[in-house]
Amino acid sequence: MGKKGARFVLILVGLVYPLITAFTIFIVMAHDPEFPGMLTSSTGGSTNAAQKAANPNGLTDWEMEHGIGPITSEIKLSAIDEKMAAEGEKLFKMKCMACHKLDERYVGPPLRGVTTFRKPEFIMNMILNPSEMIQRHPIAKGLLAQYFNMMTPQGLDEQQARAVLEYLRWDFEQNNK
Ligand code: HEC
Repeated sequence: MGKKGARFVLILVGLVYPLITAFTIFIVMAHDPEFPGMLTSSTGGSTNAAQKAANPNGLTDWEMEHGIGPITSEIKLSAIDEKMAAEGEKLFKMKCMACHKLDERYVGPPLRGVTTFRKPEFIMNMILNPSEMIQRHPIAKGLLAQYFNMMTPQGLDEQQARAVLEYLRWDFEQNNK
């Protein structure tokens, strides 16, 4: 290769290399969930980005607290409905006790008092949509890592899940009188 040829190759490499680098950076950024917000956002966007970064898997703040699933608005709780709780108890015995005990670890975590540290919507979404919860919600993922078992959907409808929630509220109250 002559001097000219060598210079040509150098120039070519000098031109192409930064292009490849830029392209690679672009590809990496495009896979970031913040993209293209991270390019266009000004200062206002950066708090938004910081907030989103705190939520894994692009979950909204609402989903972080209330879980992912069909329950997307607040469940209004009032005094415990004993009739609904009794209905929930039947369902719990049929559908949940294969894996859950109330007061001790079994296949899954003990559920007595779960109503005191999880939102009602979270509990219902866990009942109605366990697979996605385990996949995407950090709390359910954490439990999976602890229990090495996957909660499976039990085919309950929303009303039945609500009844089971009522039973869990009732159970906690009974045991904390
Ligand atoms: C096949 C076993 C299995 C069945 C059946 C099952 N679960 Fe689970 N459950 C689990 C496991 C295991 C976890 C922990 C998360 C994971 O690893 O999937 C869990 C987690 C939960 C949680 C989250 C607890 C917390 O601390 O946030 C709730 C609430 C729950 N289950 C309620 C129920 C209810 C109510 C039923 C019945 C409708 C039910 N589960 C049926 C295995 C099961």
